[in-house]
Amino acid sequence: MWFWIALAIFIVFIIVLYLLSPLISPKPIDLQNAHVMITGGSSGIGKALACQAVRTGARVTLVARDQVKLDQAQSEVALLAPGEEKIVQTVSVDLSADYDSVKKKFEESQVTFGPVDVLINCAGTASPGRFDEVPLSDFKKMIDINYMSTVHATRAILPGMKERGLGRIVFVSSQAGQTGLFGFSAYSASKYALRGLAESLQMEVKPYNVHLTLAFPPDTNTPGFAEEQKSKPEETRLISETSGLFSADNVANIILADTVRGRFFSSMGLDGIMLSSLTCGFSPVVSIMEATQQVLTMGIFRIISLIYLDHFDRIIRDCKMKRELKEGTKKD
Ligand SMILES: NC(=O)c1ccc[n+]([C@@H]2O[C@H](COP(=O)([O-])OP(=O)(O)OC[C@H]3O[C@@H](n4cnc5c(N)ncnc54)[C@H](OP(=O)(O)O)[C@@H]3O)[C@@H](O)[C@H]2O)c1
Repeated sequence: MWFWIALAIFIVFIIVLYLLSPLISPKPIDLQNAHVMITGGSSGIGKALACQAVRTGARVTLVARDQVKLDQAQSEVALLAPGEEKIVQTVSVDLSADYDSVKKKFEESQVTFGPVDVLINCAGTASPGRFDEVPLSDFKKMIDINYMSTVHATRAILPGMKERGLGRIVFVSSQAGQTGLFGFSAYSASKYALRGLAESLQMEVKPYNVHLTLAFPPDTNTPGFAEEQKSKPEETRLISETSGLFSADNVANIILADTVRGRFFSSMGLDGIMLSSLTCGFSPVVSIMEATQQVLTMGIFRIISLIYLDHFDRIIRDCKMKRELKEGTKKD
């Protein structure tokens, strides 16, 4: 009897929270005719995001370095446009290099398509390897491409958004930006940096109705992922496989939906939800339901994470033993 009363009270409580949630959530942004700028838009997750944005009627600017890849992506994405009007353009620039050229090129792109309403920072790359084997220059390269590119692009676009009192900015981090993983010391650090930037910036720009989304994709089937597989230590591959391999379309779909709703965290799959709850810390919250879920699940998720950590330790131990055995055989 008491169990059923408690259950009924709990269900009513959840329904009330669900109804109250929109009170603290940003108003969803309308992508129809919006200008969506996507860095890294010529490949992988960025290109999939461009396809989804164009389908919703947005005008899209693809940003990357290689003009040939950009042209190819532009033709593919433009095919999905609902009408005849030109709604895809490209900007070729190295985002990690020089802020002034990024600013100039972004200004030109806004003359044709109007001010950017949504900026998705997706350009990035990974350089996996054991800490003492990764070239030292790669630690700087990760910061330059994964972090400074985002700083440059956001710096160039944000003043316009603040002035107009409207905007969405997405940082594409990684699950390796929520938990450090074997073989990702250079990459993880650069993706963690995005989190500090996102939390600070969200506090600054919330009064201007600009909302940030920090996305944490798991392994995603893209050209970048295929490239990274070539140099991944076995331990890294086995550990990251536990989250499964997602399609770029699936990941893009979730990131874009969360961006429209102005959610701060965008995560995918059960492991993604668990990681985001566990690592939510002092992060901003835009949904009472999400906050409740974090409070209620954090303890149990911590227990589950200990099981995962033990599993990862075993993988690392087994790989080390296998390697030493192999090396021993070689010596004999
Ligand atoms: N795929 C995954 O498993 C996975 C998982 C978690 C997070 N992520 C993150 O998701 C994002 C996209 O990954 P992806 O796998 O889709 O990568 P991808 O297929 O390799 O595409 C990367 C894109 O970024 C552009 N880019 C790289 N460096 C640039 C620079 N300095 N300036 C301008 N553009 C640059 C590339 O074009 P150019 O080379 O022509 O410049 C390309 O368009 C990355 O930030 C990555 O860290 C990916």
